[in-house]
Amino acid sequence: MKFVGAQMLEFPEVGDERGKMVIVEGELDIPFDIKRVFYIYGSDADVVRGQHANRKSEFVLINVAGTSKVKVLDGKGNEAIFVLNRPHTGVYLPKMIWKDMYDFSEDSVLLCLSSEHYDAAEYIRNYDEFLQEINNK
Ligand code: TYD
Repeated sequence: MKFVGAQMLEFPEVGDERGKMVIVEGELDIPFDIKRVFYIYGSDADVVRGQHANRKSEFVLINVAGTSKVKVLDGKGNEAIFVLNRPHTGVYLPKMIWKDMYDFSEDSVLLCLSSEHYDAAEYIRNYDEFLQEINNK
């Protein structure tokens, strides 16, 4: 599997009469070793989260329940919107991409897998600063 830019991923799902299971293995199903897991729920439909880029962290976002959308901007004029609406699909977000998460359903549980431990200093929370760093590279 080749990972180029933000993209939807489909994960293996196994099911039998007992129910279903989705499997996500670091460095196999996603391009990084998983160092951090967090999940977001209880966000109202009109809330926009994210609104940052990360200098180091890569992410995979999976709506394990409910639905949401993720909008990404690369700072070079390209944008894409990903709909997360199935527990066996996710979106891969490389580092240095601006992201907004929004349109949360009431039952949304958004699982976030990250390549890095939390470090507030690697978050860029100002869009102009993001543009500057992207375009000065
Ligand atoms: P924030 O980055 O604003 O969340 P989102 O990306 O969904 O908009 O994080 C909310 C708060 O939680 C903020 O004060 C930082 C803190 N936080 C941690 O301490 N560790 C973490 O791994 C994350 C993701 C956030």
